[in-house]
Amino acid sequence: MKHSKYSAVVVGSGIAGLYAAIKLHKEAHLPNGILIITKTKLIESNSKYAQGGMVSVMPENKLDSCSLHIEDTIKAGAGLTDAKVAEYISKRSAQVVKELQNFGVDFDRDENNQLKFTKEAAHSVNRILHAGGDATGFCMENALVKYLISKKDIKVYEQTLAVELLKNSKNICQGLITYNYEENEYEIIESPAVILATGGVGQLYKYTTNPDITTGDGIALAYRAGAIVKDMEFVQFHPTAFALGDNGTMFLISEAVRGEGAKLVDKNGKTFMEKYDKRLELAPRDIVTRAIFNEMQLTGAKNVYLDATHINELKFEKRFPTIYGTCREYNINPAENYIPVSPSAHYYMGGIKTKVDGTTSMEGLYAIGEAACTGLHGANRLASNSILECAVTAFELVESLKNKNLSNNFVQDEKTQKTINFYKEETIKTEHQNVDAILKHLKELMWDKVGIIRNQQKLEVAKAEIENLKEQFAFAYKCPNRNHYELRNLLTIAELIVEFALNRKESRGAHFREDYPQKDLIAESHQLSRSTRMKG
Ligand code: SIN
Repeated sequence: MKHSKYSAVVVGSGIAGLYAAIKLHKEAHLPNGILIITKTKLIESNSKYAQGGMVSVMPENKLDSCSLHIEDTIKAGAGLTDAKVAEYISKRSAQVVKELQNFGVDFDRDENNQLKFTKEAAHSVNRILHAGGDATGFCMENALVKYLISKKDIKVYEQTLAVELLKNSKNICQGLITYNYEENEYEIIESPAVILATGGVGQLYKYTTNPDITTGDGIALAYRAGAIVKDMEFVQFHPTAFALGDNGTMFLISEAVRGEGAKLVDKNGKTFMEKYDKRLELAPRDIVTRAIFNEMQLTGAKNVYLDATHINELKFEKRFPTIYGTCREYNINPAENYIPVSPSAHYYMGGIKTKVDGTTSMEGLYAIGEAACTGLHGANRLASNSILECAVTAFELVESLKNKNLSNNFVQDEKTQKTINFYKEETIKTEHQNVDAILKHLKELMWDKVGIIRNQQKLEVAKAEIENLKEQFAFAYKCPNRNHYELRNLLTIAELIVEFALNRKESRGAHFREDYPQKDLIAESHQLSRSTRMKG
């Protein structure tokens, strides 16, 4: 088994991971170098698919201010946003944008070379930066990958999973075990800074806008090692995924299309948002999602529609080239036809409990981006705050790590050694479970019972079924291949979401229980206990 040492290991190559790796390489003293590991290719991540953009409160945007942004974030968060975190992140936003620009990220500009700002739901002003029209994530990811590749001494492992954290008897994370599934090879990596930037959990649901890689790996890994996780019941469903094609992984129709004035309508062109919220199409995401879901249930329709026909074709194509291209592939001209849309799992507000600088409850372990839960999003994320959080948490992590000694002089104690020996010696069962069937069942179960509308009975059915699936799966530790590792992680997250959802006997933000349709204001005043350590 290979054995190596690094000053820092970044797991995940989305915007948070890439930015942290580049900045660490530039600013920190790394006597043992830096490694970035990624599950497929360096360029592949959930961030890559972000369309709408990145919030930033820029001094040149005279209509905006940090206080307005903080207020919008807190309102959307439905009583659970940590106001101090929101303030911190908002105030850092302009600085991270400048630094990202120095690393090669270009945001869209107008004919006078001024940054363009757009609007999305629940924002009181236009403040969202975008790139390539509606290809913000793709453009940012490309720029950061290009910069990273130019730094030849940042080591990259592709097709590699993090499968276990190395933790000593004092609960300090000292590295991790990785698994290259192409080579079927495990490696022991020692490091004083393991940084999880592994993204969210979208693939837990039958319908999601997230790519195949989004299987909650970092969150499950940290939880199994005993790190505290938080807000696990809060899954955000995006209201408008493209409802054509028969794939569970759905193409996103950005909220920015509604920001540019598109309306939600039924098949006859009749609007319905006025029945649900006076902010209409630009109400917070959880409200729009439930409104669409309700309309679909009332009418039995598989989807509703987005009417963007007020935007002429050339303008639509220029502003939303990616969406335009996909619509045209399905013979839809957004300037003439309604776009069929339905809700889909999109973002995870829960995750590994962290401070803004990525520190977790476990020394030596850090988490940034969607895998982390800083408290910014509360019960419902404000649109385009996610890339901002990725960037600010990466920035702050490096600011704090650069003052630390990142030399690698651990002595492995018995506990660490035991974990290493286990991976060296354990042989795995050759008889493989039907992972595809278990995964399909799990995704359907989560969509039907732990989705947009929840209740006690559905959650209890889900709990029992997940227990059954875990028994069928039967791999607690070393797994035979990538699919098994991913399923193991998804089962862990599913169990946690259900447990947290059963405990929250109220409706708040993205967690809606029809048996408790109101907010629990007494619990709010005592701040419901929102985190947990591993049991046992
Ligand atoms: C979108 O473009 O609608 C998604 C943006 C986000 O998830 O914040």
